[in-house]
Amino acid sequence: MTSETQARSYTAPTQADIDESIRKYGRDIYNDFDLDDPAFNDKHVDIIDDLVAKCPVAHSKVGSGYYLVSQNQLVREVGQNWKTFSAAGGYMPNRPDGLPFLYPEESDPPLHTAWRQALNPFMGPGAIAEYETTIREDANTLIDSFIEKGECEFVSEFAALLPGWAFFKNVLGVPVEDLDKLVDGVEQGTFAADLEERGAKFAFVFEYLGKYLKERSEQPPRGDMVDMIAAGVQYEDGTESSWEDRVSVLVDMTFGGIATSTYVMASAINWLAANPEARQLLIDDPDTYIPRAIEEFARVFAPVVALGRTCTRDVELGGRQLEKGDFVMMVYAGASRDPEVVEDPKTIDITRETVLHSAFGVGIHRCIGSNLARLELRATFEEWLRRVPEYTVVEPPVYMTGYLRSMRTLKLKF
Ligand code: HEM
Repeated sequence: MTSETQARSYTAPTQADIDESIRKYGRDIYNDFDLDDPAFNDKHVDIIDDLVAKCPVAHSKVGSGYYLVSQNQLVREVGQNWKTFSAAGGYMPNRPDGLPFLYPEESDPPLHTAWRQALNPFMGPGAIAEYETTIREDANTLIDSFIEKGECEFVSEFAALLPGWAFFKNVLGVPVEDLDKLVDGVEQGTFAADLEERGAKFAFVFEYLGKYLKERSEQPPRGDMVDMIAAGVQYEDGTESSWEDRVSVLVDMTFGGIATSTYVMASAINWLAANPEARQLLIDDPDTYIPRAIEEFARVFAPVVALGRTCTRDVELGGRQLEKGDFVMMVYAGASRDPEVVEDPKTIDITRETVLHSAFGVGIHRCIGSNLARLELRATFEEWLRRVPEYTVVEPPVYMTGYLRSMRTLKLKF
């Protein structure tokens, strides 16, 4: 083992740490963690910082139970070792029965490799750069729709829409008149408070995309990603991917890309309202500071809080013994706030020259949409600050948190 891969030895939180956790958060976050506890929503970064500082491997008793690692090095250890920490059992703890698996996210090599190799060229920097003009135009169309009012609810009127438009219009090429119901379907299919509605909206998007893929497979090819998915890939054993696998890939690409960029965008606009100096820096020298700000905002406003893997064998992780079949969550949001890799991690500093973060994941499942996300964020900051350089937040934003974090409302006045 090199010093880079050596885990810090397991040091259990002290009784004083546990007592303090119960006092601050109403529960023992080290031995009885719950992603869905309202405290994890309200005191989000405090809880994450305590996990990073005091507990290399925490545990949850919810359902069949799961472990959590938050320190950067342990997250890497899990994310970079797919043979021991498999994604094929799904990314969410206590996964409901009957939920279809999404590929490539919930798969291991060789299936994962086959799909990533086929998908990557459509999501690389060169391919994504072609969408810049449309995304910028879309950002302006959205701003046009409320600028005269002098106020907006930034999440529903901008941040929840732009990534959906960018993806559905540019990458998938679906008819523009279907955009609203699709964006709503993905939003509600991910976040609706009512679980029945969430399931219904998810099912709607699944069905829509299945039909769309079928239609496209019968039309003349356009040479885009949808054509590739419809044609499928060949697996290592020589078999062709099934139709269900192809639909699953289209659904995964869609759900991966919509709610995530929204959160970074909305959180950044919220933060910039209270930080006029940073705003001015982005306006005065966008070429230097916008790329740095994007990485810093992704680091501190991580939409993918934690995703999990299933142990394929008994294994020691961070000094704790895990058994085959155990589920372990990588707290990506924590790995980006670990003082071992980020200096002064609690400070938001858009001038950092290099920002080491894990917001896009680590290992073979590293985000395939990061180039698109970065472009959406750049277009947002440039166009918003050009047209609305002065604005204030009317009331504190409302958040919702589980394995993803989202902002539900952000009321602005300008
Ligand atoms: C700021 C925006 C985004 C963030 C923070 C983000 C974050 C992530 C993270 C952490 C992973 C790793 C998952 C894992 O380890 O299991 C991931 C994977 C993925 N992301 Fe993103 N994502 C963003 C935007 C997008 C966009 C725009 C798309 C598509 C258009 C997308 C599609 C995907 C897909 C398909 C995967 C699975 C890749 C695989 O399993 O090989 N994401 N993303």
